[in-house]
Formats: sequence, C-alpha cells, structure tokens
Amino acid sequence: MKTIVRVEKLAKAFRGPTGKVNALDDISFTVDAGQLTVVQGPSGCGKTTLLLAIGGLLEPDSGRVFVDGQEMHSLSADARARFRADNIGFVFQQFHLVPYLSVRENVLTAALGRIAEPEPAAKGTNELLARFGLQERARHLPAELSTGERQRTALARALLNRPKVLLADEPTGNLDPENAEKVWDCLRSFASDGGSVLVVTHDPTPARKCQQVLRLDQGRLIACA
Ligand SMILES: Nc1ncnc2c1ncn2[C@@H]1O[C@H](COP(=O)(O)OP(=O)(O)OP(=O)(O)O)[C@@H](O)[C@H]1O
Ligand SMILES: [Mg+2]
Repeated sequence: MKTIVRVEKLAKAFRGPTGKVNALDDISFTVDAGQLTVVQGPSGCGKTTLLLAIGGLLEPDSGRVFVDGQEMHSLSADARARFRADNIGFVFQQFHLVPYLSVRENVLTAALGRIAEPEPAAKGTNELLARFGLQERARHLPAELSTGERQRTALARALLNRPKVLLADEPTGNLDPENAEKVWDCLRSFASDGGSVLVVTHDPTPARKCQQVLRLDQGRLIACA
C-alpha cells in the first residue's frame, strides 16, 4: 500500500513556567492509504501536538512530515493552508466551529474557495448531516447544540472535501456508545475507500478496531502493534 503520511524524527518542546516539556520526542511512523491508525495515550502525552504538527498547524523543532509526498513544513504558510484544504480533513479537539454560522454553513465552509459548482458541496453536506443524525439541527448555531452534536458537525466538516487524510483529535470523546460506534463505522469506511485516518485518543477501547495502534507516553512512542 502507498504511504500517505510519513513522520520522521519529529520533535517539539514547550517552555512553560515549570521548565521544558518534551511534547514530542523523536517520533517516526507511517500511515498507508486505506489504513486506520490510532495513537493512544494519557492526557498530556502529546497527542494534540502530534496531530497539529502533522496537519501543518504547528511548527516542530525538528523532524519532517510528508503528506502524499509533500513535505508540509517546507511550504509557505499560504501554500500549506491551500495544501491542507485540498488534502487534509482535521477534527479539532475543541471543534473550532464558527459560532455565528449554522451547522449546515459550518460544514459548507470546508468547500469555500474550492468548488466552483456549489451543488456537490450542498449535496455532500446533506448526506453528511443525515449520516450523523444532524438534519434536525442543520439550522442551529453551535451554541444551540450539545457537545456531541458539535463533535459530529466538526467531523462532517472534515469529511466534506473527501480528503486524502483525516486527522481526528478525540473524535468520539463526547459521544454516547451508539454515536461513537457510528463515528468509528464512518472512519473505517473512509479508510476502506482508500483514505488514511489518524485518530488520537486517550481511550484504549478503539485500539481493537484499527489496523495500526501506536502508544504515546510523555512524547515518545513506546510500542507499535
Ligand atoms: N502551547 C503550549 N505551551 C506550553 N506547553 C504546552 C503547550 N501545548 C502543550 N503543552 C504541553 O505539552 C504536553 C502535550 O500536550 P498535548 O496537548 O499535546 O497533550 P494531549 O495528549 O493532547 O492531552 P489531552 O489528552 O489532555 O488532550 C502537555 O504536557 C502540555 O502541558
Ligand atoms: Mg489533546
């Protein structure tokens, strides 16, 4: 299988009031096309930092990230943002929905500037809202949603452009078992259609459901399965 995400010797340290925190320490791994990978580890181990660095949203101190052969951090900020819009879907741990846009409009923002014809984006949005049980909430603002509904909206937005890579930060963190299972089904089918999925989570349960499980502890990968 073709390698889509390649992470090489990634390192990132933060300097805080209590000294240096090695959030990422010499991390290397790959994710192939069609592969669902989970990085699992406790709170504070570096999961969000890793995902942000892979998505090109955080500059690492050293190391390289390739997405479909493109070295992310060698691109200018503008080129990186364009590359991300075309190739990467990102589900943020804090969702980052636009507060003054409805659920439908939030999902549609993924298509801004990308699709000349608005029809496919509108159709895709309707399909995703139906898939995640959000039709009844399509006109709600984020503040008028439950946390789990916000999470599902963020996932729908990340999927709209059918990205090559989906990066998801605790995508089931606020969901009941039934909705969590729907999200895992969706991630699995995204991968079996040829996409690459990288999920980071503190929850050890989903590990059984994926092709590759990596364990992160204090910024280091400690085991691969
Ligand atoms: N901007 C920052 N400045 C200083 N320290 C930071 C910063 N961002 C993260 N850290 C530290 O880096 C470490 C890793 O943080 P990160 O957010 O990646 O953890 P996480 O595994 O995603 O945790 P959680 O499961 O709670 O979301 C933590 O110890 C955190 O305190
Ligand atoms: Mg996190």
